[in-house]
Amino acid sequence: MERTFSIIKPDAVERNLIGSIFQMIEEAGLRIVATKKIHMTKAQAEGFYAVHSERPFFNSLTEYMCSGPCVVSVLEGENAIKRYRELMGATNPEQAAEGTIRKRFAQNIEANAVHGSDAPETAAVEISYFFNQLEIVG
Ligand code: CMP
Repeated sequence: MERTFSIIKPDAVERNLIGSIFQMIEEAGLRIVATKKIHMTKAQAEGFYAVHSERPFFNSLTEYMCSGPCVVSVLEGENAIKRYRELMGATNPEQAAEGTIRKRFAQNIEANAVHGSDAPETAAVEISYFFNQLEIVG
């Protein structure tokens, strides 16, 4: 069993898409083993996306991520990291495949509805950034 970390981003929460995205996650066979709604500060968003701190979009991205509430979750399943990335689709919704979350719901490359971990090491770091062990119920 593998775990991955998911964010339903402010644009999707604002448009009342939490339930639709959870439904796609569950129908894909992934289990939601922890979840909560949060509203990040700029500093928390900068810490979460520290790996992108040298990118030109860093300030805009972190401003956007603290512009409204998000839903953070831990997802569990066989190959959960790869399966959730496939379910999300490409970062840029113009390149996302039919049937993916971003194809259906993303507005642009920044307000792209969801985030998911890209590797086991980042999943572990991202999960522990928002959840402690007691909050994860497999
Ligand atoms: P995410 O998977 O959360 O990882 C980094 C985020 O930066 C990405 O989704 C987008 O929301 C955002 N972003 C904004 N511009 C770009 C860009 N040009 N390339 C990649 N990510 C971008």
